[in-house]
Amino acid sequence: MLDLLIHNATLPDGRTNISVAVQAGRITEVTTGLTPEVAAAREVVDAGGMLLSTPFVDAHFHMDATLSLGLPRLNQSGTLLEGIALWGELKPHLTFDALVDRALAYCDWAVANGLLAIRSHVDTSDPSMLAVEALLAVKKKVAPYIDLQLVAFPQDGVLRSKGGVDNLKKALSLGVDVVGGIPHFERTMADGAASVRLLCELAAEQGKLVDMHCDESDDPLSRHVETLAFEANRLGLHGRVTGSHLTSMHSMDNYYVSKLLPLMAEAQLSVVSNPLINITLQGRHDTYPKRRGMTRVPEIMAAGMTVAFGQDCCMDPWYSMGSGDMLEVASMGLHVAQMTSQSAMQQCFDAVTKNPARILHLPGYGLEAGCHADFVLLQARNPIEALRLKATRLMVWRRGALVAQTPARTATLTLPDRPTNTSFLHSN
Ligand code: FE2
Repeated sequence: MLDLLIHNATLPDGRTNISVAVQAGRITEVTTGLTPEVAAAREVVDAGGMLLSTPFVDAHFHMDATLSLGLPRLNQSGTLLEGIALWGELKPHLTFDALVDRALAYCDWAVANGLLAIRSHVDTSDPSMLAVEALLAVKKKVAPYIDLQLVAFPQDGVLRSKGGVDNLKKALSLGVDVVGGIPHFERTMADGAASVRLLCELAAEQGKLVDMHCDESDDPLSRHVETLAFEANRLGLHGRVTGSHLTSMHSMDNYYVSKLLPLMAEAQLSVVSNPLINITLQGRHDTYPKRRGMTRVPEIMAAGMTVAFGQDCCMDPWYSMGSGDMLEVASMGLHVAQMTSQSAMQQCFDAVTKNPARILHLPGYGLEAGCHADFVLLQARNPIEALRLKATRLMVWRRGALVAQTPARTATLTLPDRPTNTSFLHSN
């Protein structure tokens, strides 16, 4: 007997009337015609033709800062630089328990939103390793329902801050998974390049993945992604290195980008764009026209690289908005990048599901036999409708067990001539 049978589902690739069979936490079959009449299961769910997807994955987040909004004060200007200053003011007041409590509260939101894998940067600038220890504890605690991958992130600059390299190495030795960096925050372009080289060499030595905040500025002459791709090639780190943000690419000279993209593709660089944050923090020195400051997502995808959209911030010193809703993130990316062709909208859905899963090197992620039985059932009939509605997550499963449910969104209308209900689904 099966543990779980979900039938009458639509899949993100467009297949309809699909049944998914689950046994011992894994998918055993994805097929048509496997109905409750022919396959006995302890639990049967009729998906009602709605979209059954693999869970959302966030490839870029800061869980040590999340839900700290207003501590010790609000960011009055809403700018990146005031946000960094504010984080510096908050750091001396952080406690282990408060960090854990806020992170766990966010993880509850994540599960409710069908977000079951998160790559979070953790600031390694503090030699006490307080935030690192707290997020390692959170990682262990949430492991049954969220894959939390941690990046050693030297917020103050690995070369710029005293002891930066030693602190980052300490974080890695404590169990942080990925090597991070922030080359554009080092004092000179040369120091930034040196930090990229040093950190990539460290990752190669230790067999770690790399994910750097890279060129997060409007400077058209910022060149750290070039160094990152070059080092990935030189050290044989193909497919193991991610450039996060890359907002300067928005402002770069087109001829230079035509030379840069093949170098990035050769290194099999992955890219994470953070549309909610990029559209609000970049272009702040501009008058009009104002640059959008988001990297060249469709062009990077067309060059064959894996691109994900990340949440980055949620109610923290940099951003007062956010709720762990990856459909909101993807919807913003879709609009900012003008990805409104039918195939591009589908790609935006992939950018918060299977693309980030590939970037995290998540094992067992997928909708086929042998994969983990991790799903989200959305109140939408296809990925484009899911993006349009930021669709309700009707049911969320982890390893075949139901972990969250939300009632369907339905409005009851009491119009005199049309007493009816509506759920915003399009009937064509
Ligand atoms: Fe970030």
